[in-house]
Amino acid sequence: MIDAIIFDLDGVIVDTAKYHFRAWQRLAAHLDIHFTPEDNERMKGISRSDSLDKLLALGGKSYSERDKQKFCLIKNTWYLELTQNINPSGILPGIVAFLDHLESEGIKLALGSASKNARKILDAVKLTHRFDVIVDGNDVSKSKPDPEVFLKGAQALGIAPQHIIVVEDSAKGIDAAISGGFLTVGLGSEDHLSHADIVLPSLEHITLGFLQSHISKTVS
Ligand code: BG6
Ligand code: MG
Repeated sequence: MIDAIIFDLDGVIVDTAKYHFRAWQRLAAHLDIHFTPEDNERMKGISRSDSLDKLLALGGKSYSERDKQKFCLIKNTWYLELTQNINPSGILPGIVAFLDHLESEGIKLALGSASKNARKILDAVKLTHRFDVIVDGNDVSKSKPDPEVFLKGAQALGIAPQHIIVVEDSAKGIDAAISGGFLTVGLGSEDHLSHADIVLPSLEHITLGFLQSHISKTVS
């Protein structure tokens, strides 16, 4: 039985994954590092500082901690510029209807995001009040693929991971959910998310009944 759903934010609730990508792309160009959409796919879902380490490794570069902090700040400034006008039109298709549906079915809703900007973005799209629990990058010490963010969410909800679905658009996020013992829905392409219990192109027209029957089929 499913009692709760924990949603990732960027690329699941809000169309912000593309802005993280653009900001990293700009930093990569600034540091003269070749950075492709495939590289970005591998960085999705992980913290800002871990992402920077991956970017620098791609370019075979090494910098002092002080420089790395400066680069994280620059990337975040660019990301905030890109998202400064974000509003409810940035909510991904089907999300509001799906949240309404889950609420009417008595399902608890949580957010589990690596982003330190999660609360700001949720406020901007006016969805903060929809979540019973919010765990973000300010609340955890270990980045996805560590399950900490989802386990903290489960603990705050008071529900065991095996009764919770995690919805994620990143391979690292699915890894994190699996290692925490959660059921998983991957949003996006099978190419990156085939380890999820099910992969869907979006949450449009999805019902709890569909997820329950589909996930129980794949895990039984
Ligand atoms: C995740 C994104 O949600 O948050 C990553 O998928 C991002 O792309 C990470 O790097 C950290 O976000 P922020 O806003 O704290 O830099
Ligand atoms: Mg994401």
